[in-house]
Amino acid sequence: MAPDGDATELDVSRLIGALVIALKPDYVIETGAYRGDTTEIIGHALAFLGRGRLLSVEIDETRAAVVRQRVSGLPVTVVTGKAEDVMPDSPVDMLFVDSALDARMREVRAFRPYALPRCVILAHDSALPTYEPGVSEFFASMTAAVDDGIVQPWMRLPTPRGLAITRYR
Ligand SMILES: C[S@@+](CC[C@H](N)C(=O)[O-])C[C@H]1O[C@@H](n2cnc3c(N)ncnc32)[C@H](O)[C@@H]1O
Repeated sequence: MAPDGDATELDVSRLIGALVIALKPDYVIETGAYRGDTTEIIGHALAFLGRGRLLSVEIDETRAAVVRQRVSGLPVTVVTGKAEDVMPDSPVDMLFVDSALDARMREVRAFRPYALPRCVILAHDSALPTYEPGVSEFFASMTAAVDDGIVQPWMRLPTPRGLAITRYR
C-alpha cells in the first residue's frame, strides 16, 4: 500500500496517525519526510486532537519544499537538514525515524537528551529482507542501541516492511 518504494505504506502511516491520536504527544519528530505522506497524516492527527506539533526533518530541500506546501495549515514544521544535527526546541514525546537506514539509530541516540520519559520511538522497515543493501547493518544498529542501554528491546510489528516500537531506557 505504499505510493512508491520509498514512501511509507499508507496503512502504516495511518497506524502511526492512530498512535498519535492515542498517545497525544506534544512534540513529534519525523526524520525523512520524502513526499510527506506520513507527515500529513501525523499533522491531521494532531489537528484532530487540537494539540501538539510535528517537526519533520528532510535533507533534500526540493522535497522539503513540496511537503511544506502539502502540510500548510497543519501544526507541522518542515525543516531542511540532516536530522541527527537538529536540536529540538521542546521535549520530544514521539520519534519516527525514517531517513537513511544508516542514519536512523544515530538519530535515536542524538534525540535521547531531548526525550521525555513517555517518548515512544518508531522505526520503519524493521522487516526488510537482509539481502537488500544496508538492511543487515540497520538491524545491527537497532540491536546495538539496545545493547548500549539506549533503548528497551524493540517490539517488531510484522507488517510486510516492518515497524518497530520501543522506548528510551
Ligand atoms: C524512506 S523516505 C521517508 C518516507 C516518509 N517518512 C514517509 O513516511 O513516507 C527517506 C527520506 O529521508 C531523507 N533523508 C535521508 N537521509 C536523511 C537525513 N540524514 N536527515 C533527514 N532526511 C534524510 C531522504 O531524502 C528521503 O526523502
